[in-house]
Formats: sequence, C-alpha cells, structure tokens
Amino acid sequence: MALREIITEEDEILRKKSRTVERFDAKLHQLLDDMAQTMYKHEGVGLAAVQVGVLKRAIVIDVGEGLIELINPEIIKATGSQEDSEGCLSFPGEYGIVERPDRVEVRALDRNGKEFTKIGTGLLARAFCHEIDHLDGVLFIDRVKKMDTPAEKPHRKKIGVRLKRTTD
Ligand code: CO
Repeated sequence: MALREIITEEDEILRKKSRTVERFDAKLHQLLDDMAQTMYKHEGVGLAAVQVGVLKRAIVIDVGEGLIELINPEIIKATGSQEDSEGCLSFPGEYGIVERPDRVEVRALDRNGKEFTKIGTGLLARAFCHEIDHLDGVLFIDRVKKMDTPAEKPHRKKIGVRLKRTTD
C-alpha cells in the first residue's frame, strides 16, 4: 500500500466524469488499497478515485462501521432528507451545510466484480451521495446551502470528532 496525494480544488480533474471500471485486476486492488490508506491517514470518511487523480468509478467509505469499497456505484433509491455540516478532503478546512437524502440504497460491484446492494442512513447516506457525486464531477460546494464563515470555523472545530469526520 502507498499513500497517494489528494488533489485539491484548484485542479480541473475534479470536474471530470470518471469512467466505468471494466477490469477487476491487481491494478484496481492496488488503487483501492491506496485510497483506503490515504483516507484513513487524512481522517476522512470517504474518498473517490478522482481525488487521487484516477478517473475511475471507484470509491472507499468508512463512517466508523468498517471499510466499504464501491465500484461503478449507482443510487437506486433515496428517501427523506437531512441537513448537516459537510466537508471534503479536496477542500481542506472548508465546511458547509448540505441537504442530503436520509436513506440511500446503492447498487455497486465489489473489487472482484460481484454485484451487491447496501443501504445507508444518516452519515453513511450522506457519504454515498457525496462520493458518487465526485464520479460525475459534482462537488459539495455545488450543493452547499451556506458555507461556514471564518467566525464559525473555530466553533465548529471545537465540536470535535463528529465534524472532523464529516464526509470527505
Ligand atoms: Co469529497
């Protein structure tokens, strides 16, 4: 495994559409391993391949319930709504209020190409939506209702782990 560099907001690649994964080979497995290591190192709860410069429809998520790898994920059902502060590893230190569905069902392939479905509520539903958006070049700043002001940032930091671990 190796840490990879996270691409930040200035880079146009974050606006590109990622390509469908067709090969479930050692190269994909290496990418997924590296993405997980990079996500944990930066204390994020999710990371899309495009954020390490690879335009493949692959994401990793861990909201504290174990690692989930999703290849070619699709949201097949989304219900309810929730509002919370959200950030992104590609926008270090930036947070804002984003409305998301409260319950999301996703269909995806695992690292060996086997299909599965997974239901997420709360933070996991938020992470599914945020990361799948990345695969289409959509960023949380496109959906934000209100960015934190500089005055609010120190306050939010104090709230601690919960916000630090909000979807990245
Ligand atoms: Co992000």
